[in-house]
Amino acid sequence: MPQVGLGTYLIPNGELKRVIGEAYEMGYRQFDTAWRYHNEREIALALKYHGIKRENVFITTKVNADALYYFGYRYGKHRIFNFRNFRSIKNVVLESFENLQTNYIDLFLVHWPWPMYRRMYEVLTDLYHEGRIRAIGVCSCIPPHLQALAEVSDVVPAVNQFEISPLNTQKQLIQYCQNKGIIVEAMSTFSHYRSNEPRMEILENPVIRPIADKYHKSIAQVVLRWLIQQQIAIIPKTWNFDRLKENISLFDFTLTEEDMSIIDSLDKGKFLNYNPYITFNTRPKYKKNWYR
Ligand SMILES: NC(=O)c1ccc[n+]([C@@H]2O[C@H](COP(=O)([O-])OP(=O)(O)OC[C@H]3O[C@@H](n4cnc5c(N)ncnc54)[C@H](OP(=O)(O)O)[C@@H]3O)[C@@H](O)[C@H]2O)c1
Repeated sequence: MPQVGLGTYLIPNGELKRVIGEAYEMGYRQFDTAWRYHNEREIALALKYHGIKRENVFITTKVNADALYYFGYRYGKHRIFNFRNFRSIKNVVLESFENLQTNYIDLFLVHWPWPMYRRMYEVLTDLYHEGRIRAIGVCSCIPPHLQALAEVSDVVPAVNQFEISPLNTQKQLIQYCQNKGIIVEAMSTFSHYRSNEPRMEILENPVIRPIADKYHKSIAQVVLRWLIQQQIAIIPKTWNFDRLKENISLFDFTLTEEDMSIIDSLDKGKFLNYNPYITFNTRPKYKKNWYR
């Protein structure tokens, strides 16, 4: 699995052909998508358009509860409990194969640990054993979520993709996963589309600025390098040519231990996107001290 990939959420579909071509030329080999991004088909078309061979790229996609509804999707009880509207998880997973025009997926993730994430993981496990999916994993799972998976599957997730940023360093969760051999993949490091303000808190950070100046790099590059040096896979999203280049030009400098700890010290547990701990608020048995 390439350590650097391209996140594709919210790249306009009309731009994907250009972006995928440019990214591939620059050396990107992992593309992160999901059923929910409604761009799997465009990604397949872009790869085909540029003559990129299937075996030369690593494709990650995800299955999500939204995908199970026959008619559109909107959050809310009326949808969640309207079971007559449901189609099977397996059909939805197979739809991603069809969208991506491929007979195997490199990494298939469960998009979110609620609802039905264990049932989704079971379906992915079956396809993994059939050899149609090369690795399976999860997103935004904390240890109780991960432990609960062992009750339904004999496959340890290969990857846990979750939010990590200097404002939310997630040290305990990273250590927990890495100790179990689960690859950590960072998402939403520069913050999700719903929150621009924390992005600036990172990208104009006066504490990281001197480190960036020392290496003649941008703050974004220093932050991505800080992840790389923690053995974390990254999938920053951008559809801007210069930023695409910037986000993969990370291997000609090394942060010192002091630089690393300065960035670590910015942690304030601030979620920029989803807070997966909220999912467990209603489940007291899992609530306390999971990391001990
Ligand atoms: N599993 C999940 O639940 C989940 C949730 C969220 C995201 N993801 C995946 O993770 C990927 C990345 O997460 P994300 O899209 O939320 O956030 P992100 O990649 O951390 O941040 C994207 C934002 O940062 C900007 N940006 C990117 N590189 C930059 C640079 N070098 N300098 C300045 N600004 C830069 C982008 O702007 P421009 O585009 O204008 O350059 C965009 O506004 C997604 O695309 C998706 O594939 C997964």
